Amino acid sequence: MRIALTVNGEPCEADVWEGESLLFALREGLGFPGSKNACEQGECGSCSVLLDGKLVCSCLVLAVQADGHEVVTVEGLAEEGRLHRMQEAFVAAGAVQCGFCTPGLVVAAADLLVRNPDPSDDELREALSGNLCRCTGYAKIFDAVRLAAVR
Ligand code: FES
Ligand code: FES
Repeated sequence: MRIALTVNGEPCEADVWEGESLLFALREGLGFPGSKNACEQGECGSCSVLLDGKLVCSCLVLAVQADGHEVVTVEGLAEEGRLHRMQEAFVAAGAVQCGFCTPGLVVAAADLLVRNPDPSDDELREALSGNLCRCTGYAKIFDAVRLAAVR
């Protein structure tokens, strides 16, 4: 079936099958490969996007459920050719190793600061508990979010 949605502010259409995930549609049909596909079970957060402003695992959302809705991916965070402050903070803090978790973490962390501009360490850990990283040990990721919070 054909779906029409808004991705990163742009109207998009795609042909999807009934069981296709939003993640697959974004990556393979719509040309937004930023969201990563790791577990496809809602466990790792690497596929995190905003759906109508709410943080979701796009591997757990059917593409047809996004029909008529608004999606923001990591590619949509930058504005006017400038990286989002969370993206800049990840670079500045050295919070990236293999980078596979980074898009999902950046989306989730940016969403956290919208909801809570000055999170405590506990709130930070809780908010990002659904985003797994196999490389960094999380310390530099948390440093990056703290850095973005004070900017
Ligand atoms: S790929 Fe979606 S949560 Fe892991
Ligand atoms: S940087 Fe490799 S999984 Fe996080």
